[in-house]
Amino acid sequence: MNFASDTAAPAHPKVLEQLAAANSGPAVSYGADGWTLQAEAMLSDLFEFNLRASFVSSGTASNALALSLLCPPTGGIICHEQAHINCDERGAPEFFSHGARLMPLTGLHGRIKAQVLQQKLQETDESFVHATPPKALSISNLTESGCCYTPEQTTSLAQMAKTAGLGVHMDGARLVNAMAFLKARPADLTCKAGVDVLSLGFTKAGAMGAEAVILFGSNADMFDDFEARRKRAGHMPPKQRFVAAQVVALLQNNLWLELAEHANTMAQKLRDGLLEQGICILHPVEGNEVFARLSADQTSQLRDGGAAFYSWPDGSARLVTNWSTKHSEISSALALL
Ligand SMILES: Cc1ncc(COP(=O)(O)O)c(C=O)c1O
Repeated sequence: MNFASDTAAPAHPKVLEQLAAANSGPAVSYGADGWTLQAEAMLSDLFEFNLRASFVSSGTASNALALSLLCPPTGGIICHEQAHINCDERGAPEFFSHGARLMPLTGLHGRIKAQVLQQKLQETDESFVHATPPKALSISNLTESGCCYTPEQTTSLAQMAKTAGLGVHMDGARLVNAMAFLKARPADLTCKAGVDVLSLGFTKAGAMGAEAVILFGSNADMFDDFEARRKRAGHMPPKQRFVAAQVVALLQNNLWLELAEHANTMAQKLRDGLLEQGICILHPVEGNEVFARLSADQTSQLRDGGAAFYSWPDGSARLVTNWSTKHSEISSALALL
């Protein structure tokens, strides 16, 4: 019963098969290999948009390097107060941007509220040299509370940000779970909604360690700059084919979507079982995360019975499902309560 994180899940067998295939002989180094080209072409087809894609092996590198493109050292990055970039990346966005400041905003279920963003943007006075002007907006889909931004919600925030001259970044570490929940096309959730640069997660979806950074439309002009930053940051693996091959494996036949649908279904099953026992669920379950308010006794019953999960800063238990979660894991956990 492992509900600790989708990063605790094993890699999908198809990913391992593709890695074995990529290991069949020599390949060009540093991203000029066939696997990288194939992964980028598959992403272009998927998003139905002109794009450039690059690959790194952690979400933190993906977010921090992406944001360094959109925000100068003297600018600010607006994000949700619970955003991974604000709470869990040990200053990497500030480090890679050479000093940009994070500007956290509030909002229910991890979503930035349009009115709160508007107010923040209105407060900005570019002519006042002493204050930091926001230069980028970063939103996470799924949010850190496991909720989705719909295409309309993203469009509305992105339009406000763009009108104020900000670039728009999306942390899509779990975008495929949002795609599965909303039954939405990836383009509608991202580029068509105004996202300039996307950090797209594959690790939580079933990869061993692979994340894509996608520059949409005219942002693709910054690709060479991105690659220079990636190299300088030490995130350009010489055998990059092994990162890209994982992306190819998960995109083939839309495997990642199928896996995300399973993870989401498992989360819904868990939520329903907890609700039946009268347990309060803190956020709508719109992906693969369930935040449950457990008593101290219930927490011990689960832990002592062998269920792994984290206690969240808001006092809830965060229960994360993944592509490999079994129905029996859910029923065993519910039986413990
Ligand atoms: C919303 C979000 N963004 C990004 C990441 C990726 O972080 P990393 O791969 O560096 O652990 C995570 C990981 O938990 C996450 O939850």
